Order: sequence, then C-alpha cells, then structure tokens
Amino acid sequence: MSNKIRAAITGVGGYVPEYVLTNKELEGFVETNDDWITSRTGIKERRILKGEGLGTSHMCEKAVKELLAKTNTDPKEVDMILCATATPDFIFPATANLVCDMIGASNAFSFDLQAACSGFLYGLVTGAQFIETGKYKKVIVIGADKMSSIIDYQDRKTCIIFGDGAGAVMLEPSTDETGLQDSILRTDGAGLPYLHLKAGGSRRPSSIETVQNREHYVFQEGATVFKFAVTNMAGVSAEIMERNNLTADDVAYLVPHQANRRIIDATAERMGVGSEKVLINIGKYGNTTAATIPLVLWDFEKKFKKGDNIIMAAFGGGFTWGACYLKWSYNSN
Ligand code: UT7
Repeated sequence: MSNKIRAAITGVGGYVPEYVLTNKELEGFVETNDDWITSRTGIKERRILKGEGLGTSHMCEKAVKELLAKTNTDPKEVDMILCATATPDFIFPATANLVCDMIGASNAFSFDLQAACSGFLYGLVTGAQFIETGKYKKVIVIGADKMSSIIDYQDRKTCIIFGDGAGAVMLEPSTDETGLQDSILRTDGAGLPYLHLKAGGSRRPSSIETVQNREHYVFQEGATVFKFAVTNMAGVSAEIMERNNLTADDVAYLVPHQANRRIIDATAERMGVGSEKVLINIGKYGNTTAATIPLVLWDFEKKFKKGDNIIMAAFGGGFTWGACYLKWSYNSN
C-alpha cells in the first residue's frame, strides 16, 4: 500500500456498429483491392454507423452503458465524463454533455477534448489528474469517432483506412500502486498541412463552395504522416520505457493506436517487444481515431492480469502523439 493516489482503470466498455464495410465492398467505390489494402495497412474490414440522426454520441451511449453495467455503477455516482473525439455530434454543445443526458449522469460535469488519434491518451491523462488530486472518485474517459461522417468515399487514399466505434474506461482512485504510472504527451501544430479537415471551422466556414470542393472530408498526405507516426510513436514508446527502467521483459502488452499495421510493427520493434505482446484489432475495425486504444482494451480485457505493465501509444492529426505507462488494476474473467 502507498499513500499516493493513482488513477486506475477499473472497467472497459465498447461499442462498434453492426454494419461491416469490407475491402471487397470498397472495391466498388474506388480503384483498390483487398491485396493492396491488406498488405499496406493490415485492414480487412471496418464498422460503419448507419441510421438517420445517429452521431458519435450514440456509440458513446452504448459503450458507457456497458461500462456502467460491468462496473456496477449508478450513473448518478459519476463525477466527470470526458469525451475525446474529432467527430462531435455538433460543433457545440459538447458530445460529452449529450452523453451525460443519455445515460442519466445528472451529477457529472463533462467536456470534449480534441486531439484526433491521440485523443484517448490525452483524455486519460487529463481525467487521471482529477483522481490523483483526490477531487473525484469516478471519472469516465471515452474515445469515440464516427469517421464515416467525414470520409470521402471517392478518395482511395483515406476511405480504406477509417471506421467508426467508441470505447470507454472508468477511472477510480487506487492506493495499491496499480493505475497510471507515467505519461508523455506531445503536440506539433506544424503538422496541419498533412492531416486536416479544410472547411467547416471558423477559419473557413461552410459554404456552397466548400461543399462543392469536397472540403468537409479528411485530407491526408499519407506517406508524410506515416513517417512522422513511425518516428514519434516509436520514439515516445521507447522513451517512456527508458525513463521507467522497463525492459522488454517487463512489458506485458503494447496497446498501440491502430492506424496502420506497419506503424505498429515499427513501434514494437523499436521497443524490442515481441509480436505476442502487441495487441492488434485493426483488421476488423480499421482506424477508429480516438476509439482505437479503448477498443483494444475492450477486445483484449480478458488477457490482462492485475499488475501487468501496459504501454499505450498513439500518433495523430495535429500532430499529436504520446505514450502512457499503466499498471493494470484487476483480473477479469
Ligand atoms: O491515424 C492517424 C494518423 N494517420 C496515419 O497514421 C496514417 C499514415 N499513413 C498510412 O497509413 C499510409 O500512408 C497509407 C495507408 C494512407 C497509404 O499507404 P502508402 O504506402 O503510404 O501509399 P502512398 O500514399 O505513398 O501511395 C503509394 C501508391 C500510389 O500510387 P503511385 O502514385 O505510386 O502510382 C497511390 O496512388 O499506392 C496508391 N494507392 C492505392 N492503390 C490501391 C493509394 N491508395 C491506394 C488504394 N488502393 N487504396
């Protein structure tokens, strides 16, 4: 036991929409093929949220309701909800506010946080501060994106990568040394030209022209982003191991952002971590932006044992990137 309060993940919830968009189906929209997509990215299929009027909050609601049920939590006990998303339901109000209402978290305060693919790690570290200070007892951090709402299905360079989904974790105080141990978060706004949405914000408000120019879709210079992602995601992952004196043997699992199988492999190689410790679900969900890391935790939760050292790492638009070192807090069965 120690006096230091750490923020422990005490449960994981997740949701992916039912509709499966396969590589085969994409072949009908753009000039591509299953071989190219699989070998260049590792993606076989992704989930797409269909249904009029359903936004990111719909997937958050499902993920958080599962989380509340799994952790036996009354929504009224929740102190704070933080939603990391680049695809909020509206520019305002925050999606997290809508989620509070949908789940009955009437005593919580909530806000959105935008760090693209690194959003969940930024959210986790932000939420953890409120636990570590002793201010709050139950904080929910969500990573969720409805990428299909901003993807151009005529652009083969982007439409093959992204999918929709939501994942959520409960953070609670721990005094048994488990929980969040360390984090490194970084930002470089000079990344703007390589990955962004050109219009719809205050710099270039929506107009007939922006719609006609297809400027409301993700623009990505893939090869440049790829190089930055490999260098930076691998860099912080190695750095967080080094400064916590962790060898590859000490690391139980790497939970990487799922953007491209090749970026994940490069990160694991730089860390010296064997492939059996690298958790990957990109094949079935694609890149769900802020949702990738919590969806990996959700998919592989049963593997984790109390005390396991887990490294989470991400890189995304902004540029934003980071790594977190977490000691897992419970055995699930
Ligand atoms: O998650 C947030 C951050 N985002 C990322 O981390 C994504 C990082 N980038 C990537 O994952 C990769 O850059 C992509 C998967 C987006 C693209 O792979 P790439 O190996 O970097 O391809 P490229 O853009 O350099 O294109 C290589 C070739 C081009 O043909 P030419 O010009 O060499 O003749 C493309 O036109 O592949 C072509 N190409 C395709 N061919 C078949 C691009 N997309 C496709 C496609 N199907 N879908």
